[in-house]
Amino acid sequence: MMGQKSFLDIIKWKLVGSVIIGTGLWFASGALGFPTVFRIMFVLYAVLGFFMFVLLDLPPMPELSGGKAIGALLVFYLLCSAVYTGAGVNLPQFDPEWEKGKIQKIIEAKKRAHPSITPQELNQQTKALSAKTDDLMERLAKLEETMTGKSTAGEGPSAEELAKKKAAMAAGGIPSDPVAYGKEVYELYECYNCHKIGGKGSVKKRGPMLDNIGNLATVEQLKKKIYDPKYLMADGFEKEFNKGLMPKNYPELISEGELDALTAYLVSLKNTSVETPKPVLKK
Ligand code: HEC
Repeated sequence: MMGQKSFLDIIKWKLVGSVIIGTGLWFASGALGFPTVFRIMFVLYAVLGFFMFVLLDLPPMPELSGGKAIGALLVFYLLCSAVYTGAGVNLPQFDPEWEKGKIQKIIEAKKRAHPSITPQELNQQTKALSAKTDDLMERLAKLEETMTGKSTAGEGPSAEELAKKKAAMAAGGIPSDPVAYGKEVYELYECYNCHKIGGKGSVKKRGPMLDNIGNLATVEQLKKKIYDPKYLMADGFEKEFNKGLMPKNYPELISEGELDALTAYLVSLKNTSVETPKPVLKK
């Protein structure tokens, strides 16, 4: 049997050495900027080393055989499992929050360098891009026209598209309220490609905003304008008027019933806070 004195002898210098190494590792890793979890692990390795060297120097165990040997093996196995599992559960774990914090810091530094894009700005950029796309599609259509020599029914929707949309509208039931129906007609003929109502529609300023048209024009005038774009001109839109931007083929597309609804909708627009150009009669 090993005496109390000799055991002390075995551990004495190993303990001193391990304490020095452990302390050294703690401060060195701190100076190198390791996170605390890592520093604790380094110190634990020093402690582990201490036990390993003590174990090596302990007097050998009496040889075991048979059932005793198997039993000892099992006990040793269970002991090791318990130590590993216990350590795994109880040691400070690597903390993902800490990593997240690091990433957050990088993001914040970037944000400070480039003030972040707000959803509104993103929306504006998207709109600007979609306006560019519209413009390109327009040019493409014009190009196609000149190449094939056939006109693609002005700026409005194509005949097939219209037929499809009308069928869909009929299937969904035409609203009995003329204003609601007129709103659908407005959508159907894509007036929003050039006009804005309630801030929605044409991004590129092609045509006037119509929010207050109900205070400026009568149903009769609006009907005439839609069937004959030269009938009146929106004040300040000489260039567009002279270019004949507003499609001329609405009499062929828009039925009289639809025109009734559309103009009922338009005269209902009386929002004085949006600047709508005065109609100037030309005929
Ligand atoms: C391709 C572009 C374009 C489309 C599509 C278009 N318009 Fe216009 N519209 C204009 C332009 C440009 C003006 C201003 C010049 C003018 O009066 O002709 C205008 C003027 C008007 C005006 C006069 C506004 C005012 O303040 O005097 C009304 C009303 C109007 N449009 C209604 C419609 C309706 C309803 C539709 C859909 C059936 C439509 N427009 C489709 C380009 C368009």
